[in-house]
Amino acid sequence: MRVTPAVELDDVSFGYRPGQRVLEGVTLRLGEGEFVAVAGPNGGGKTTLVRLILGLERPGDGRALLFGEPAHRFSQRRTLGYLAQRFELGGDAPATVREVVSAGRLAAGGLIGPMRRRDRELVAEAIERVGLSERADAPLRTLSGGQQQRAFIAKALAGEPSLLVLDEPTTGVDAETQESLAALLDRLHSELGVTIVYVSHEFGAVERFVQRLVLVRRTIVFDGSPQELPGIWHDPSHVHA
Ligand SMILES: Nc1ncnc2c1ncn2[C@@H]1O[C@H](COP(=O)(O)OP(=O)(O)OP(=O)(O)O)[C@@H](O)[C@H]1O
Ligand SMILES: [Mg+2]
Repeated sequence: MRVTPAVELDDVSFGYRPGQRVLEGVTLRLGEGEFVAVAGPNGGGKTTLVRLILGLERPGDGRALLFGEPAHRFSQRRTLGYLAQRFELGGDAPATVREVVSAGRLAAGGLIGPMRRRDRELVAEAIERVGLSERADAPLRTLSGGQQQRAFIAKALAGEPSLLVLDEPTTGVDAETQESLAALLDRLHSELGVTIVYVSHEFGAVERFVQRLVLVRRTIVFDGSPQELPGIWHDPSHVHA
């Protein structure tokens, strides 16, 4: 029997306008429980690929399936955790970490009226997992950039995602924070079995945790274990389609 992949792209091509080809002939299958890094140069199509995977864009040619359903009509959207690239940080909003994470629980659906105990527990657990328990009631704007990113990961986790997609989660955070984020994702992957797609043009921090590295430059130019990556491709700017 064929196991339904979490993500299935078959010969997908896509452009934002007629005649444009941002992605061409992309075929990709991600099994449930995989932890995959997606890398490639700026403008290579990583964010576009993610948007196709999540059904936020529809393929021009080919097809995109999420857990066996057409991605754009996926019926279990609440099981998708997505940290968009350059997401809006808290800014001046007075929301606390707990309030932000609770919004992830709201997005999980069925929550009309006050949070139930189970929801509160899931929120507290997500905050604990990302190591922010002591700052749970602090306004988001009083946290560092790396801590704010953790808060947004907790928000996604509170929705109990089966697929977690992070697009450039480490932009603007230091190497140490990148390392601890990578270790956090490794724990989520091994303890909760979450399927994780980690997009970054730098993949050094997650390299030792992922089974698979996918390099995107208009199409998939490499798909394999990071150890198999030819030396020259360790610098993504050298990836030629
Ligand atoms: N909304 C849009 N409308 C038109 N063109 C777009 C749009 N978004 C992206 N593009 C173009 O599609 C191509 C791929 O962009 P994409 O954002 O997917 O690349 P990326 O690999 O995520 O880059 P980065 O590393 O800078 O995040 C680029 O040439 C970009 O200019
Ligand atoms: Mg991008």
